[in-house]
Amino acid sequence: MNTIEQFNQHVMGTYGRYDLVLDSGENRTALSEDGKQYIDFGSGIGTNSLGFCDESWVNAICEQAHRIQHTSNYYYTKVQADFAKKLCDATGYSKMFFGNSGAEANECAIKLARKYSFDKYGKESERNIIITLVNSFHGRTLATLSATGQEVFHNYFFPFIDGFVNVEANNISDLKAKLEEYDGRICAVMFEFVQGEGGVIPLTQEFVDAIFEECEKRDILTVADEVQTGVGRTGKLLAGQCYGKRPNICTLAKGLAGGIPIGVCLADEKCADVLTPGTHGSTFGGNPICCAGGIAVLNKVTDPEFLSEVGKKAEYFRSRLVEIPEVEGVDGLGLMIGVRLKTKKAGDVCKKCLENGLLILTAKNKLRFLPPLTITYEEIDKGMEILKRVLA
Ligand SMILES: Cc1ncc(COP(=O)(O)O)c(C=O)c1O
Repeated sequence: MNTIEQFNQHVMGTYGRYDLVLDSGENRTALSEDGKQYIDFGSGIGTNSLGFCDESWVNAICEQAHRIQHTSNYYYTKVQADFAKKLCDATGYSKMFFGNSGAEANECAIKLARKYSFDKYGKESERNIIITLVNSFHGRTLATLSATGQEVFHNYFFPFIDGFVNVEANNISDLKAKLEEYDGRICAVMFEFVQGEGGVIPLTQEFVDAIFEECEKRDILTVADEVQTGVGRTGKLLAGQCYGKRPNICTLAKGLAGGIPIGVCLADEKCADVLTPGTHGSTFGGNPICCAGGIAVLNKVTDPEFLSEVGKKAEYFRSRLVEIPEVEGVDGLGLMIGVRLKTKKAGDVCKKCLENGLLILTAKNKLRFLPPLTITYEEIDKGMEILKRVLA
């Protein structure tokens, strides 16, 4: 029995997978079980931020594994304290909560936002509605699926969680109308600055400005899901910086620990102390090995020169894409890139690229690129040659 047959016999079929078994990786190249090389333009959906097995990252997590791998949350570890300080200092947030995934980080944000209003306005106020955006994606737990503004995800698992109202992204009138309709009942507005799974669609500056202005007036918390957009992906540490905004709450995951599980919920001075002992928790949250990996990532992505290089490489990546005649347009921010095609189907192109040694992604009907932040110009060129051939 080969690896794929063995896997499928024992693992639930929750994903549509390609017939490819990846065995090892180095920097931006993965190696399959049968020895074929693949250039990586997907970074495990924005997660291997420093590429495969970056040396400083490997050293950091190995060292931590030799020191201590886990403690319960009854105790403290220095690596957690160091990671949290580094992240709060770099982002300007007051405090953070440790989880293990994007969904978990968002669960924390949802609980925090509701408790903020509960504490301040009382249970009777029922100030618990969270506005989320149509076409958003916030995770696969029941609460984050309920928050997700896509009907296709609201299936099978009834009853979903009450208290989410959707507003059309970039539609200020819809935002204002919903804020009026549910006046006094809303505790937060939650959004991705660039909708990733929804098709790499950035919010407009005007819409973001309106969210912040309206929320400020009404004591409604702003919650940015930066699970995909954060940690240097846009050429800034946080995508909010591209818009000149710092929401009250910000969630990060994916690339934060360079490919090992982490999810954090950051809170500003307004709501940093809302969650108190016993109100939230997670056994593996803040795992010391993941924190060590996170520090290795932060050491790189908080360097302004590194971030400026991400911006330059993103420009270069785009300039190479628009040269391709089949490309209708390029969307996104920084190294979070969506491509509209003129005639071809994104799924078919993705498959063909794979056959030719290039790992790419799709989002809705677009090609999607989330290369490791450490990708080189030469690797961009190499991957583009494959893409060009496939799109010819
Ligand atoms: C914006 C956003 N939020 C949340 C999630 C969920 O993250 P996770 O799969 O780590 O739970 C994702 C995953 O794609 C995401 O893109």
